[in-house]
Amino acid sequence: MTVPIAIIGAGIAGLSAAQALKNAGKDVRLFDKGHGSGGRMASKRSEAGALDLGAQYFTARDRRFVEQVQHWQDEGWVAEWKPQLYNYREGQLSPSPDEQTRWVGVPRMSAITRGLLKDVTVNFSCRIAEVYRGQHYWHLQDTDGCSHGPFSRVIIAVPAPQATQLLAAAPKLAAAAAGVQMEPTWAIALGFEKTLETPMQGCFVQGSALDWVARNRSKPGRDEHLDTWVLHATSQWSKTHIDLSKEAVIQALLGDFAELVGCAVPAPSFSLAHRWLYARPAGSHEWGTLADADLGLYACGDWCLSGRVEGAWLSGQEAARRLLEHLE
Ligand code: FAD
Ligand code: NAI
Repeated sequence: MTVPIAIIGAGIAGLSAAQALKNAGKDVRLFDKGHGSGGRMASKRSEAGALDLGAQYFTARDRRFVEQVQHWQDEGWVAEWKPQLYNYREGQLSPSPDEQTRWVGVPRMSAITRGLLKDVTVNFSCRIAEVYRGQHYWHLQDTDGCSHGPFSRVIIAVPAPQATQLLAAAPKLAAAAAGVQMEPTWAIALGFEKTLETPMQGCFVQGSALDWVARNRSKPGRDEHLDTWVLHATSQWSKTHIDLSKEAVIQALLGDFAELVGCAVPAPSFSLAHRWLYARPAGSHEWGTLADADLGLYACGDWCLSGRVEGAWLSGQEAARRLLEHLE
């Protein structure tokens, strides 16, 4: 009997590691507290359609990731998004076109992790509370008191504050994870019956509670009947207003949106708010992965590299590479 490898977290980092291990012929089992995959790349199903409330798009700069994205494009999971970009600074809105290639999942961001789930076993709605070692192998204890295992090795692919607790068996790794601050983001989605009279499809914002504005419906493959928008607040505003009610957050950010967008903004017929507590690491690291190869415990995620989709994917690859290297 081969003892499988456990991966906690079915975001892009965990699924990247799972793919690499599967390609090397290893048996992997994933666990995620959510109902579905994707983590911060998930899309929220709503009456206004599937909305990308977390990652908005991603860029590919590392050669390995460029090749991977090409493969996803061949699979039909991603397409290029070419938004009409604007910049809002010092109260001025101006077009801000550029040559950057930006990718999105189609027909929604979660299509990518959905695609990567093929042929891997995931226990959804299973929040792991503890990773502990028996005589020879690892076991996972979930918050319902169920134990899962045995596992030969464990990869922890969750945001740093959540990883800290799960890394208790490797105090050095736990201390490194504990040192990573992650900042929150309030996200809201709005839907308008009548299309707003602006060509804007994305806007980088400075000097406002808002940080970013996107016309969700302008992304390829979306067929929402409303003119849907996703707005992100800055980390600073999100921190200061962390406990505000969803209604108050929608009112505040809608006001800032109406101020910057440069056209009349009627009352939306649809709105929702989502609070990402661990949206982005405060800084970037060059760890790739955190590993205690002798113990067989690894951590990966965007916080081990850049706080972006690309960094998360590369970190998952690195965790798998280090694990496989130690098996040789
Ligand atoms: P996650 O996606 O957080 O995955 C971790 C998974 O672990 C989750 O599914 C979670 O449910 C699960 N989990 C956590 N704890 C447990 C537990 N105890 N037991 C079981 N499961 C657990 N990046 C870009 O490149 N471009 C962007 O435009 C962009 N915009 C963003 C906007 C927002 C609002 C946010 C929040 C993020 C954005 N990002 C963007 C960042 C990007 O989404 C992340 O870098 C990336 O998705 C992180 O992937 P990950 O796998 O490391 O972590
Ligand atoms: P990118 O190259 O498009 O953007 C990087 C940054 O460059 C932008 O944040 C913006 O400040 C600036 N920029 C890029 N193009 C611009 C233009 N045409 N006009 C004006 N400014 C422009 O993408 P990259 O490097 O892949 O970054 C991903 C994006 O994800 C960033 O915008 C980042 O802020 C965002 N992000 C948001 C998180 C959140 O929690 N809200 C978490 C992680 C990433």
